[in-house]
Amino acid sequence: MFTARNLLVAVSFILSIVTGLVLARGGQTATSQSTGGAPTPGGKQEIRIGLSLDTLKEARWQVDKRLFEERVTALGGTPITLSANSDDTTQIGDVEKLITQNVDVLVVVPHDGKAMAKAVTLAHEAGIPVIAYDRLITDSDLDLYVSFDNIKVGELQAKFVVDHLPTPGKGTIVRIHGSKTDNNAFLFKQGQDNVLEPYLKSGDIKVIHEDWADDWKTENGKKIMNAAVTSHGGAFDAVLAANDGTAGGAVQALIEEGMAGKKVVTGQDAELVACQRIVQGTQSMTIYKSIKTLATNAAEIAMKMAQGKPVIARSSVNNGKIEVPAVLNEVVVVTKDNIKDTVIQEGFHSEKDVFAVAAAPQAP
Ligand code: BGC
Repeated sequence: MFTARNLLVAVSFILSIVTGLVLARGGQTATSQSTGGAPTPGGKQEIRIGLSLDTLKEARWQVDKRLFEERVTALGGTPITLSANSDDTTQIGDVEKLITQNVDVLVVVPHDGKAMAKAVTLAHEAGIPVIAYDRLITDSDLDLYVSFDNIKVGELQAKFVVDHLPTPGKGTIVRIHGSKTDNNAFLFKQGQDNVLEPYLKSGDIKVIHEDWADDWKTENGKKIMNAAVTSHGGAFDAVLAANDGTAGGAVQALIEEGMAGKKVVTGQDAELVACQRIVQGTQSMTIYKSIKTLATNAAEIAMKMAQGKPVIARSSVNNGKIEVPAVLNEVVVVTKDNIKDTVIQEGFHSEKDVFAVAAAPQAP
């Protein structure tokens, strides 16, 4: 049985791992033997935090970048950000550039979680600790993972579908998974499977079509939806789309088929366009993952690591090689009913923006 003592032991074990890593790799900036940073005019050691992004093409990553950089700067550090345009070779090149620029800590949103194991090795060879941001880097000696409870995201999406089918717990669905290069895509699916399994087993819910959207592209979400409609017409009740980007593609296809607003459609990220679709009725829900919390956490942790201060991680995640200390943030389901009390109240989007196009002509 999992007792409070077990928890305490686990927490202190994880804490000691993180502290150990900080002492072993980060923290060197606090001493004169620093390999990172550069002296500032006042003679003080500058702390540089490298951020290697997969992409900036989805709206959320632009917010992640801005908030992360703002927090690092507010804490006296210098953020250096590079974005790889969804290309692994470019991302490894970016990491090499950041290492050459003597960053003290490297924060990575991997395009491909496996391919970026090499980035961890390269950074460690230079004595730089690595934090995986939002997406896990697998099969590596990663120092820390800062993200959300991604299995829970999938569970909430699937539970929403089950509860909102015309006959709750019974129906036919299309599933649009994320990019196979992203570990999160598998976690979202795993969470969905946790909820769907009994219904699939009993035959109450049937998946009539499913596929993976390469690179999470909206156009690939649309292609998957088109393929489902080509084979099955309108004979489905819901589209279990893994994120708002792919949901956007699915909704576009549904608009063209005259089915928009008639099917349950899920998503995640609470992107502005998705929130607009929710108030318009063409998307049913999204998952709000506070980017502010994630970016702020990651920036604060990176700065602490750079200064050799201890970092507390209350969870851990197995990345195929080690148990990686993890900081996982909470997520919230957003629907038409609570959109004002969640994303709008928290200032993620303004009410004016969310409702801006609500009066625009609806799809046929
Ligand atoms: C993130 C999602 C995002 C997707 C595509 C995932 O790893 O967790 O929030 O929608 O990547 O960028």
